[in-house]
Amino acid sequence: MLHSLAFAPREALEGDFVSTTREAFRVAHDISAYSLVALTREVAPLMTNGGSIVAMTYYGAEKVVPHYNVMGVAKASLEASTRYLAYDLGPKKIRVNCISAGPVQTLAARGISGFTSMLKHYQERAPLKRSCEPAELGATGVFLASDAAAGITGQVIYVDGGYQIMGM
Ligand SMILES: NC(=O)c1ccc[n+]([C@@H]2O[C@H](COP(=O)([O-])OP(=O)(O)OC[C@H]3O[C@@H](n4cnc5c(N)ncnc54)[C@H](O)[C@@H]3O)[C@@H](O)[C@H]2O)c1
Repeated sequence: MLHSLAFAPREALEGDFVSTTREAFRVAHDISAYSLVALTREVAPLMTNGGSIVAMTYYGAEKVVPHYNVMGVAKASLEASTRYLAYDLGPKKIRVNCISAGPVQTLAARGISGFTSMLKHYQERAPLKRSCEPAELGATGVFLASDAAAGITGQVIYVDGGYQIMGM
């Protein structure tokens, strides 16, 4: 199962994080993180001979990315949920992992203010001098779904041109 959805009210992705309303915080976590728990609960009984669950996350879960705000906090919750789900479902041979993607031009990404400068930043700073291609994310998803990844669970795999390793 691929979990590839997220949402936060637009106003929460523009100003200061400290201004996040209780309602925007709730909505972002409900849609972007709790949905993984709810979907996993429904799909796990169908995975009678083991399975693989993959969720899409972003570096803003672990470091401050200006404007990513409450979505970063929700992604931290998504990544932690992945680890707890991996522990629960490991005995059923169901693996749960995250792919942490570098910035990609999508409808959701265009909602983040300053997104274009994020892409430029990756081109300047990432070891591979770029973010990532959608096909590369797909290939990593196929890997995680395959038996080649049979020993991998509860992990965050970075497909981000190597940006995550940089200190400055
Ligand atoms: N684009 C990026 O730069 C980037 C980087 C890292 C991670 N991600 C993550 O990748 C995933 C997919 O996003 P994307 O960038 O491909 O954008 P996208 O706009 O193509 O996908 C977002 C999806 O979320 C769905 N969605 C939104 N609210 C929903 C709701 N209430 N119920 C059900 N579905 C809902 C939308 O219908 C849409 O299909 C998200 O989890 C996103 O955070 C994206």
